[in-house]
Amino acid sequence: MTTEMARARRLVAEADRIVVLTGAGISAESGVPTFRGAGGLWKSHRPEELATPEAFARDPQTVWEWYAWRRGLIADCDPNHGHLALARLALGGTPTTIVTQNVDGLHVMAGTDPALVVEVHGTTRRAMCLSCDWRDDIEVVLARVRAGDEDPHCVDCGGLLKSATVSFGQNLFPGDMERIEQAAIACDLVLAVGSSLQVYPVAAMVPLAARHGARVVIVNGEPTAMDDLADVLVMGSISEVLGTVVGWSAGRNVRGDASVD
Ligand code: APR
Repeated sequence: MTTEMARARRLVAEADRIVVLTGAGISAESGVPTFRGAGGLWKSHRPEELATPEAFARDPQTVWEWYAWRRGLIADCDPNHGHLALARLALGGTPTTIVTQNVDGLHVMAGTDPALVVEVHGTTRRAMCLSCDWRDDIEVVLARVRAGDEDPHCVDCGGLLKSATVSFGQNLFPGDMERIEQAAIACDLVLAVGSSLQVYPVAAMVPLAARHGARVVIVNGEPTAMDDLADVLVMGSISEVLGTVVGWSAGRNVRGDASVD
């Protein structure tokens, strides 16, 4: 255990209320591509061509193909030790909120109570109507696209359908920003894991927490945009270091019992 990991471990153990902010880096070792690190999606795709309402209005079929491709990417992905470590942390007794920028659903699949997870950028596993409350599994709409419906609309109200994710230029879902701001203000430790901390408004929760007295621990594979705010920087592979930082070992299940498998 490095000195930084030991210091981070102590801050986690001493914390009374923890907010975790996760990014694509925690899912990379599950096979889900990141955006800005080595091999990141935005190296080969342009966000404005895909992940914006304008791109959707301009060429919905290309965007549905992008959705189908990304849905296919995560279909066979499983949570890794990083997700399991945070699931253990959330079960460990210290009030914990996991704010994730990821749309892969792997925190809940790892066993974290969905009530403790804020999917601020939504989920690529579901589709939504932009005009009413219709929501369903995205496969329901992808089946329509595969059957030739190039621009599927809502069966209830005729509105535009899209994946239940937040695209660039879209607002976060109602209530999420307030929830993560309140969590950032109330916590005494913010743990940023696997994010380059470049995308707002979500990244703003780290300096917000720090301004309200929280300690900041950043766990990432390379420097982030907010390393100067960190009390402790833990550099390394998340699936290898995060368990030690939160006090979970891979030989135990998320409840902390010695795992039989
Ligand atoms: N271990 C540790 N760090 C890793 C690992 C790993 N195995 N794999 C990748 N990383 C790091 C990368 O070095 C990078 O700094 O994870 C970080 C991921 O950063 P981004 O790709 O920018 O992802 P993120 O911060 O989640 O992006 C935020 O941008 O495009 C939007 O909506 C998208 O939610 C996303 C948002």
